[in-house]
Amino acid sequence: MRTVSLDAAARELLEANTQTAVKDGRTYTFSVPSPQAYPFQWFWDSCFHAIVWARFDANRAAEELRGLFAWQGRDGFIPHVIFWNRELARRNPNYWHFRESRPWLRRPKTTARLQPPVIAQAVERVVDAGGGDPFLRETIEPLEVAVVALERARDPDEDSLLTIISSFESGLDHCPVYDYPHSLHVDDADPLQPDPSWTLRREFINKLFGHRASVLSRVRRTTHEDVHFTSIYAQGLRSLSRLAERAGDDSLSRWARDKAARVTEALMERSYDAREGLFWNLVGRREEPVRVKTIVSLMPLILEDLPRTAVESLVEHLANPEEFWLDYPVASTARDEPAFTPGRTRLIWRGPMSMNTNWFLAHGLRAHGYPDLAESIGDRSRELVERHGFNEFYNPLTGEPVGVETFGWATLVLDL
Ligand code: GLC
Repeated sequence: MRTVSLDAAARELLEANTQTAVKDGRTYTFSVPSPQAYPFQWFWDSCFHAIVWARFDANRAAEELRGLFAWQGRDGFIPHVIFWNRELARRNPNYWHFRESRPWLRRPKTTARLQPPVIAQAVERVVDAGGGDPFLRETIEPLEVAVVALERARDPDEDSLLTIISSFESGLDHCPVYDYPHSLHVDDADPLQPDPSWTLRREFINKLFGHRASVLSRVRRTTHEDVHFTSIYAQGLRSLSRLAERAGDDSLSRWARDKAARVTEALMERSYDAREGLFWNLVGRREEPVRVKTIVSLMPLILEDLPRTAVESLVEHLANPEEFWLDYPVASTARDEPAFTPGRTRLIWRGPMSMNTNWFLAHGLRAHGYPDLAESIGDRSRELVERHGFNEFYNPLTGEPVGVETFGWATLVLDL
C-alpha cells in the first residue's frame, strides 16, 4: 500500500515538473528539478528523472534524455544546464548566475560546464525498461561521442582520472572539498551568505581560458581530478560496454570495458590513501590531495571491480556514526569535519543527505554484499519522503527537510 502511494506521488511530481520546449521545429518534453528554484533542464537531474520515468513509462523516459542529446555540441559535450526558453529563463535569478559560464554569447541557451556523466546508466535503464533496440540504435553513437569527448578534453595528463574545472561540474556545488585551497569556515555557511567571492573569481577565470581543462589544470589550483566525477564516468563506461555489446559493436564494448578497468586502477594508484582508507581529490598540476571527508571520498563504492580492501575501508567510514552514518544516512560531509553543517544554509552539500548520492551508494553497497546497509538507507530515506515529501536535501541528524521542495531526483527513493 505504502509503495503504491509513493509511486503515485513520485509520478505526480515528475508530471507536475514537466515542461515542453521547441528546438529546430521539434517539441521536447522533460522534467525540471523544481519549477520555482530550478526551472530549466539540468543534465544529471534529467538522467535521474529518466531512471525514475523508466519505471512508469519508457517512452517518456526516452524523451527526457532526447532533450539532453538535442544539445550535444560539436565538441561532443552535453551541457550542464539547458535554458530552452530564454525569455522565461531571464526572469529567474538563477539564469543570471548560471549563464555566466558562457562568455561569447550574450543570451546563451546553455551553460558551458558539464555535470557528472550518468547518461549511459540512464540510457541502459531506459533500453532495459522497454526502450529496447530502437532507443539503443538512436543513442549508442552520441553516447560514444560524449564519452570520447570526456577522455580527450578532461584527462590532459592521460592518467585516466577526469578533471573538473568548477565545483558546479561535480554537481556538489559547495561541498567543502572544493573550498580548497581557500578555507571557508562554518560561520560563512550562513543562510544569507551569497556565493563566496572566490567562486565567482574562479568562474571568471575559467571563462577567460575558454573552459579548457588542459590549460586550467596547469595554471590554476582550483581544478580537481575528481573522485566522484571519475567514479560515475567509470560506472558509465560499464553501461556503455553492455549497450555496445547488445548493439553488436564488439570493439566499442571491449574498449569501454578495458577503459573502465584502467580508471579503477588509476583511482587505486593515485587517489587512494591506504592509511586512511579513503579516496582524495587531487588538485592542480601538483596533484595535491584534499583530505576533507565528504561523500566524494566514498563514491568509488559504485565500482564493481573496486578491490576488496578499499571496499571494506570505505564501508567502515560510511557506517561510522561519527562520520557519515547519522540517524538519516548518508551525510554529504562527515560529521567530524569542521565544515559539517547539517541544516538549512545557502551553501549546499556541507552535511545534508541527498537522495541521488544515497541511490548511488545503496546500489554500490548491495553489489558489494552489504544488503543490510543498503536496506537501512532505503528504509530511512522512504520514511523521510513519507513524512516530509520529496526534498532536495534532509538534515541527517533530525530528518528535517532542507533546501527546495517538490524536487525531481528525490523520486529516486523508489529505486533504492
Ligand atoms: C544544485 C545541485 C546540482 C543540481 C542542481 C539542479 O545546483 O548542486 O547538483 O543539478 O541544483 O537541481
